[in-house]
Amino acid sequence: MIMDFLTKLTRSYLIDRDSHFVFRSAGEIQFPKMDSIDLYIHIPFCRNMCPYCPYNKIRYTKKYVAPYLDAMLSEIEQYHSRLGTIEISSIYIGGGTPTSLIDELGIILERINDRFEVAGDICIETNPADINSEIVRKLEQFGIDRVSLGVQSFDDKYLKLIGRNYHSGIVNSAISQLRSKFKSTNLDLMFALPGQTTNEVLTDLQKALDARADQVTLYPLFSFPYSSAGKYLKLKKVKFPNLFRRREMYRAIHDFCQNKGYQRVSVWGFKRGDVPSFSSVTRDLYIGLGAGAGSHIPGAFSFNTFSVKAYIKTSLNKKLPIALRMGLTDSISRYYWLYWRFYDTYIPKKQFQDLFKDDRKIHRLLWAATKLGLCKETEDQIFLTESGSFWIHLIQNYYILNYINKVWTVAMEQPWPKEIKI
Ligand SMILES: C[S@@+](CC[C@H](N)C(=O)[O-])C[C@H]1O[C@@H](n2cnc3c(N)ncnc32)[C@H](O)[C@@H]1O
Ligand code: SF4
Repeated sequence: MIMDFLTKLTRSYLIDRDSHFVFRSAGEIQFPKMDSIDLYIHIPFCRNMCPYCPYNKIRYTKKYVAPYLDAMLSEIEQYHSRLGTIEISSIYIGGGTPTSLIDELGIILERINDRFEVAGDICIETNPADINSEIVRKLEQFGIDRVSLGVQSFDDKYLKLIGRNYHSGIVNSAISQLRSKFKSTNLDLMFALPGQTTNEVLTDLQKALDARADQVTLYPLFSFPYSSAGKYLKLKKVKFPNLFRRREMYRAIHDFCQNKGYQRVSVWGFKRGDVPSFSSVTRDLYIGLGAGAGSHIPGAFSFNTFSVKAYIKTSLNKKLPIALRMGLTDSISRYYWLYWRFYDTYIPKKQFQDLFKDDRKIHRLLWAATKLGLCKETEDQIFLTESGSFWIHLIQNYYILNYINKVWTVAMEQPWPKEIKI
């Protein structure tokens, strides 16, 4: 209720009450001239279908592997012919379980290197059940720089409860095989699991720090209506964990990480020292390859078709498999930039002034947030306090989960939706 009210209030304060964001069936997209862009690669295959998972994925089936690889190579060629040999400033490989197509990933990265100038780091998501010495050797050989391991919990009781297909022994073995091989290793944990206490969350966190994680990212468990858990629970909307329990856990996680010398890098994550941080979402402009991958190019957002079959067929027919597109005005692009700076929990003042010097609404909002103790200013940045991070993460969650939930629900049901209004 309170989140509904707060988010509707900010939306109608910043944007017209009656205006909507509309994704429309895309057709061919015009790409502006760009010198560089980030790349996102989506591998939608998993050997275990976790019941809570909202991401676009299907069960690993050998028959799709070769066609999916060919479709992605075709997509790379199509972007190359439209954009030329531009710079790729970073690559993020997510899923699904990217390592389920490990050899194919080598071929995909090689093709990207042949067609573009890859300048930045390569990040990948991994799953403990998939890690072995052969996979780690290949990741190193492909030049992967940063790795994230989806641990979720070190406690066998909770691993079983959320339907993961491994036990804590496998987690520890995966961590020791990955350790010190990459520039940075992030461990994902989930909290506010059914029945979990704050002490149990901190025990998990302690184990992650004992394992010398460079970064830890902690997500509260959300139930999505279209996940198998959501269907089982007959959900209509995204279900958030209890607010009070979540507040207590969020504060305990913050204090624990600060005391251990880990600094906040996002509303969810903490890292130690100067290691580079691991993040899937804070890239500004990017092109997504693969079924369901999103792209943000100047002036537009788009999504590829979520259907693996439709993706393969369209891409092999030498067409870009883009299903939905939404044009972005300059002011929405600026708010989008600010949204992700809030996610980072700090805003560089110089860039902020350049982008928002004439936007009195945003200045008023920040003034009110400072008065409420949600943010503070230093000479060169505005940063969120612990309570600011908590409230911003709630608002962001609400936006992202409800809006993304709406787009994803339709896109998972229809390969080529005509229109989605959010
Ligand atoms: C793209 S996902 C999956 C990475 C990898 N496939 C795995 O399962 O380990 C990235 C992270 O999102 C988090 N996540 C997934 N589903 C979630 C949910 N329903 N609620 C909260 N966090 C979730 C998990 O921590 C997961 O590691
Ligand atoms: S949580 Fe990860 S492994 Fe499980 S189904 Fe989702 S993407 Fe696959």
